[in-house]
Amino acid sequence: MDKIRIRGGNRLDGVIPIAGAKNAALPLLTASLLTDDTLTLSNLPDVADIKTMIQLLQHHGVAVQETAKDDGSRGPVSLCAGPVNDTTAPYDLVRRMRASILVLAPLVARFGAARVSLPGGCAIGTRPVDLHLKALTQLGANIELSEGYIEATAPNGLTGANIVFPFVSVGATENILMGACLARGETVLSNAAREPEITDLARCLLAMGARIEGIGTDTLRIQGVDHLTGAEHSVVPDRIEAGTYAMAAAITGGRIELAGIRRGLLEAALDKLSQAGVRITETEIGIEVSAEPGGIIGVDVMTEPFPGFPTDLQAQMMALMTVANGASMITESIFENRFMHVPELARMGADINVHGASAMVRGVPRLKGAEVMATDLRASSSLVLAALAAEGETMIGRVYHLDRGYERIVRKLAACGADIARLSDRGPI
Ligand code: UD1
Repeated sequence: MDKIRIRGGNRLDGVIPIAGAKNAALPLLTASLLTDDTLTLSNLPDVADIKTMIQLLQHHGVAVQETAKDDGSRGPVSLCAGPVNDTTAPYDLVRRMRASILVLAPLVARFGAARVSLPGGCAIGTRPVDLHLKALTQLGANIELSEGYIEATAPNGLTGANIVFPFVSVGATENILMGACLARGETVLSNAAREPEITDLARCLLAMGARIEGIGTDTLRIQGVDHLTGAEHSVVPDRIEAGTYAMAAAITGGRIELAGIRRGLLEAALDKLSQAGVRITETEIGIEVSAEPGGIIGVDVMTEPFPGFPTDLQAQMMALMTVANGASMITESIFENRFMHVPELARMGADINVHGASAMVRGVPRLKGAEVMATDLRASSSLVLAALAAEGETMIGRVYHLDRGYERIVRKLAACGADIARLSDRGPI
């Protein structure tokens, strides 16, 4: 199994192009199921989760045409879901990626039936899908659970409804938004998530002929239409990738220009970095993040739904706080078990105490390289950050977690001066 070796201590300096957002691309890909026309998506990130989703869609019978740019990177992808030949999303594919659940509502809305394995994915808490199922039932679907599968049927199509989510769920909002576009009549989604990835999905659905009001707010009003058409859409930049590299600049005392990102996509995280003593400047091509000579100052952080501080940057922020001057209290309010990076950071010399949903991080002067193991996608990137700042060599195992969501991370960091290499059992690759 591949490992990443990092020899820490280099100050990073350079420009990193930010890829399209994985978490926007996944629901956008499943939106192709809503029409028999061609949906063409550009700026899709070249990461494992996107390949898994494309495989799942092909399994359903979607014709997928992939292209490559001159430099070999991923080009626009065209998807055409004519007559779908199989409405079952099998365990083998769904267990690799929780977001597979996002085929559920589009399949039921357009074909009247779906059979989707209960998902696996990142091991961060129990992560049930009850909100998706309850809301889909409110749209008139009949749902049964059998042998590990969700069996949903709506032979006469879905019907609009007033749905109030008991708490904010990104995935449930996306799933039900897509289903409601083809439902009969009006659907109102209250307490909807308003992450930029949802706004991006809603914009694409508008281009496909959907009627949606309230985009960017917590109340979405959807008038169902008989059918949707094809469209062309470019995926919004990845705010989590950008935030991760912003913290890489900060933790190494360096400077990185994040090309293609807008401040509004990650205001809360950039505000926290400013409070921590990091300089943030908007430039012509994106945002420049540079460390100030005084070092990092400890700040308190609580994760919240957008526009709050994203849970997907919590682990990376914690890595930064391990070397701050002073203490920092980091509270995770979205997921119940998202501190799996703590024992690994501790192996590198971090001083962290977890009390329930909060972690008290006391900054240490220096981390030390160690052998560590990635446990989930964002935890893995926190270990990369810690390793970049640590004295000596760090070996990170289970790199496939990083491959799920970071496009060419080794190359992007190396281009800014990091001493980083990916090793297979046979040596460097
Ligand atoms: C999405 C993101 C993930 C991010 C998360 C929160 C994708 C592919 N993934 O995940 O990277 O960390 O948003 O910003 O976009 N919950 C339930 N029942 C449900 C649904 C959710 O109890 O039916 C709970 C979850 O366990 C969690 C909370 O609600 O505690 C929020 O989860 P949700 O916003 O749904 O996350 P995902 O859509 O799975």
